Order: sequence, then structure tokens, then C-alpha cells
Amino acid sequence: MVFYNLVILFSLLMVITSARRFGVHGLSMIYYGMRCPLAENIVRDTVNNALQSDPTLAAGLLRMHFHDCFIEGCDGSVLLDSTKDNTAEKDSPANLSLRGYEIIDDAKQQIENQCPGVVSCADILAMAARDAVFWAGGPVYDIPTGRKDGRRSKIEDTRNLPAPFFNSSELITMFGQHGFSVQEMVVLSGAHTLGVARCSSFKNRLTKFDSTHDTDPALDSGFAAKLSKTCTAGDNAEAPFDETRNSFDNAYFNALQKKAGLLTSDQTLFASARTRNIVNSYAMNEAKFFFEFQQAMVKMGLLDVKEGKAGEVRLDCRKIN
Ligand code: HEM
Ligand SMILES: *[C@@H]1O[C@H](CO)[C@@H](O)[C@H](O)[C@H]1NC(C)=O
Ligand SMILES: *[C@@H]1O[C@H](CO)[C@@H](O)[C@H](O)[C@H]1NC(C)=O
Repeated sequence: MVFYNLVILFSLLMVITSARRFGVHGLSMIYYGMRCPLAENIVRDTVNNALQSDPTLAAGLLRMHFHDCFIEGCDGSVLLDSTKDNTAEKDSPANLSLRGYEIIDDAKQQIENQCPGVVSCADILAMAARDAVFWAGGPVYDIPTGRKDGRRSKIEDTRNLPAPFFNSSELITMFGQHGFSVQEMVVLSGAHTLGVARCSSFKNRLTKFDSTHDTDPALDSGFAAKLSKTCTAGDNAEAPFDETRNSFDNAYFNALQKKAGLLTSDQTLFASARTRNIVNSYAMNEAKFFFEFQQAMVKMGLLDVKEGKAGEVRLDCRKIN
């Protein structure tokens, strides 16, 4: 109990300092305190109910928040549907099986019934990702709210997402462009403790890898054989990132140590000398992983946040007002 109180206190301090660092002033820990006091509870109950019937959606919510924040900032742009004149982010091949939109729609509708036009879709998504992490056994933490929803969602913007075949230098560069340190990039990759990838995302590692290797030499040969078998079922066959796909734990980092990282972008974190020690530290110390993960998530949730007239509070998360 004392430990958790301390963790919460520390994360509050972190939020205050990082919010200042990023020049985000309109966001606050009590933004909906007066405006819509039940918002946080509604999101939490909706997420808990949905995950009770389908635990795999925790991964979907976490990933959706990441994609939202990396494109155009955390402004709910990932939630917008395509229209007659515009192809939205979610219809990019890079959407690769994003899941959990119904949970956001459901929470939004209940919140609109309580306090119409007050709570943004971007905030609902940020809260839902946070609640999903906790539901799956990860750290508990507070996030500031007050994000506004954006009006732009374009398929071509998804080129700003990292690719599964990136090596550590490419990952460091891309996350660096968003203000993240090497350590923060590695800890955020730990989100892959939840969920699965489809064969289309990693099959390049299994056959004709390069001119001298048939399979990726960074991959354990037994694990490679298992993946090859999975992928005989086709490009959409799924493999879990670690042995506990619905538990938020440090098994992902243990898998990397055993050369059983699913994507090139996962295994490179152990293969590269610049990031290996960080992987080892999280594999050894889950509490350290949890603490640094929540710090990095709070920071990710502040990326290019829109405030005031720069955005709106969408009434339907799939459509601009
Ligand atoms: C480091 C660079 C990253 C790359 C290259 C990457 C790439 C991918 C790819 C290719 C998939 C599988 C998609 C599919 O095959 O269907 C995936 C899944 C996933 N990603 Fe990442 N990702 C990265 C970082 C992150 C971050 C920072 C988060 C969240 C904070 C995240 C959360 C997830 C989750 C939870 C899944 C599983 C989704 C599910 O099971 O539905 N990823 N990622
Ligand atoms: C992802 O994009 C494809 C087209 O590339 C589209 O058919 C699919 O419906 C999209 N998935 C979601 C969940 O929006
Ligand atoms: C990573 O990939 C880039 C682009 O393909 C390449 O130039 C670079 O040498 C690679 N870095 C490492 C450490 O392998």
C-alpha cells in the first residue's frame, strides 16, 4: 500500500514536471473533476466489462493510443472514419489490425449521456489505454486530461509509424524525433508484452532472410521453426509476442534474451549493444519496467496535444463535428 502510494506520488510529480517540459498548460489531473466527474469511472467500467469478455482487446486499446499519439499528436485522429473525400489513418495498411474501436464508441456514448460535448475522444482513448494496462496486471497511474480532438486524419500520415523491420538505430532516430530517449523507446516497446503480430509482419525473418542466411540469425532456431509452422496458415495467422499475451509483465524482455523476439524491431533491442543493457535490466526487474513504462506512457500521452481552438470535442469519435 505504502509502495503504491509512493508510486502514485512520484508519477504525479513526474507528470507535473514533464507537462512543464512540454509546454502543455491546459492539461490537468482534475480537468473533468467539475465538468464531468464520472468520466474516468465510465471509461474504466466500460473497459473492464469489454476486457472481461475479450481479454485480447487490452492490446488493441494500448496500440491504438500509440498510433494516435505518433500521428498528428494524441488527438483521436486514429478514430476517424474515412469519408467520400478523405482516406483516414485507419484505412492505411499500417493500421494492421487495430482493434477496440467499439469500446471507445461505447464509453463515448455513455459519457455523452452524462455530460454532452465535454469529454474528448482523445482523452477517452488515453484513459482506456491506461485502464487496459492496469486490467492486464500492469502499473496503475494517473494521466492528465484536457486534450482536444483533431480534424485531420490522412492515410499518408501513417508513414510516421515505425516499421516492424526497423533496426535499433532506425528506432532510436524515429522515437528521438518525438522527443524520446533510447531508454524510453525500449520501455515503450515493452508494450509488446501484450498481444500478437500477424505473419505478414515477421515472415521476412523466416525464409530468404538475406544473401547469406535463410532465417534471421538473431532468431532462435527452435522458435523460428515454430513460427514457420504457424505461418503455413497464411499471412493473417497470429503469433503472440511472449508466452503471456494477455498479461502485462516483463516476459517480453525475457523472450528477447532467449532470441525469441517476434519482430525485427523487438529482437534488435537485445541484439544491439546500445539497448541490450536496458533490456536486461527490465528482464531482471519487473518493478523497474513498470515504473519507467508508466512515466514514458504519460509522456507519450502528451505528444503534440491540441488545446483550445486548435481542436474540438467531437460528438461522435468517428466523425469531425
Ligand atoms: C518500437 C517500435 C514499434 C514497432 C515497429 C511496432 C510494430 C508493431 C507491429 C508490426 C505489430 C503487429 C501488427 C500486426 O501484425 O497485426 C504491433 C502490435 C502491437 N503493438 Fe507495436 N510497435 C512498436 C511500438 C509500440 C508501442 C510504443 C506500443 C504502445 C505503447 C505498441 C503496442 C502494440 C501492441 C499492444 C500490439 C499488439 C496488438 C494486438 O494484439 O492487437 N507498439 N506493433
Ligand atoms: C485497415 O485498413 C484496411 C485497408 O488497408 C481496411 O480494409 C481495414 O478495414 C482497416 N481496418 C480497420 C480496423 O479499420
Ligand atoms: C540500420 O538500418 C539502416 C538502414 O537500412 C542502415 O543504414 C544501418 O547501418 C543499420 N544499422 C545497424 C546498426 O544495423
